[in-house]
Amino acid sequence: MERLYADHAATTPLCDEARRAMEPWLIGGLGNPSSLHAEGRAAKGALDEARAVLADALRCEFGEVVFTSGGTESANLAVVGAALANPDPRRTRILFSAAEHHAVLHTAPILERLGYRVEWVQTDRWSRPDLNHLSDLLGDDVLVVSAMHANNETGALTPDLSRLASLVAGAGALWHCDAVQTFGHLPLDEAIHADLISVSAHKLYGPKGAGALRIKAGTRVAPLIRGGGQEREMRGGTENVAGIVGFAAALGAPRGGERGIADAFRREAARAVPDLVWTLPDDVERLPGHAHFRIPGVSAESLLIVLDRLGVSASAGAACSSGAIEPSHVLLACGWSEEQAGEGVRFSFGSSNSERDASEAASRLAEAVATIRRARRSRSSAFPSD
Ligand SMILES: Cc1ncc(COP(=O)(O)O)c(C=O)c1O
Repeated sequence: MERLYADHAATTPLCDEARRAMEPWLIGGLGNPSSLHAEGRAAKGALDEARAVLADALRCEFGEVVFTSGGTESANLAVVGAALANPDPRRTRILFSAAEHHAVLHTAPILERLGYRVEWVQTDRWSRPDLNHLSDLLGDDVLVVSAMHANNETGALTPDLSRLASLVAGAGALWHCDAVQTFGHLPLDEAIHADLISVSAHKLYGPKGAGALRIKAGTRVAPLIRGGGQEREMRGGTENVAGIVGFAAALGAPRGGERGIADAFRREAARAVPDLVWTLPDDVERLPGHAHFRIPGVSAESLLIVLDRLGVSASAGAACSSGAIEPSHVLLACGWSEEQAGEGVRFSFGSSNSERDASEAASRLAEAVATIRRARRSRSSAFPSD
């Protein structure tokens, strides 16, 4: 049976444009961009070209782009770097939207050790930050607010970014926007007003291990990795030239089509599994390839295991290195119960999929659900008190 990859929000396959651009730097390009000789200058030139492409896409100045190892490092650099660089006894609070990625949320213990109080902005039922709650929490003692552009689990886009930006700016705080899921897929729109923007190459058909942080001119951020002063003193360490070149090339690659496949999947899956519950109503704006749902009484873990056996790669949301599936903090923030938050499953379509995959994915989903329910029925008739 042919495998069907429906986990593009976790990572995407490397596109041909990126692979072709990277090859010379993987095979022959030996220069260190900090070296003064010809090979070093060539590598530095490649970095400069890539930085110009990123600056154009982020609609910012060339010098505002700092290359990192990916979205996680960018988000860490944004919030921890801002906390380190702005010691101010009057600004002691940091606000995170409760549905942020762990790349943001898991910096809280470091921030607390630095003396900040981290507080959570509630979300609505669709994982989007509640701007009224943000407004209540904001004050002139807040240093940074982290509110993402689109949620990686539900796929919901954060609406009203201009109000968000003006609330944060009005309090004199910095806005970090995690745009890892949208960058290269959707226009950044009002997200470009963020002081700090995290992006990652492998979510947009570039290589794993390359990302960037846009640091708006005048925003103070301290480096987390110190060494040779690379990236204008913002990140020590020899740059990942091939990865960065691939990142820029992937940005220019043509894409699209995933919205039609995801919409067709939604129609077919609703027919094939009648009690399936979609997380987002139709009128909530979402990432184009995303379809997120739960099936009452069917845990995400068992569903994903059976789907995998049936050749379908989907996911429960955030990829965790242990592979364990715990009730999702995003779904808990949306007000789901613990049990429901352990049932959320994400199909995310992209360039690996064809139109036919929509109905194939839906029918394999129906088969997986039937298999799990059949196994449960036969178990409960064999062990009635179980
Ligand atoms: C919203 C969001 N932020 C941050 C990250 C982390 O990015 P990376 O895998 O490049 O470290 C991810 C990846 O899953 C993500 O979806």
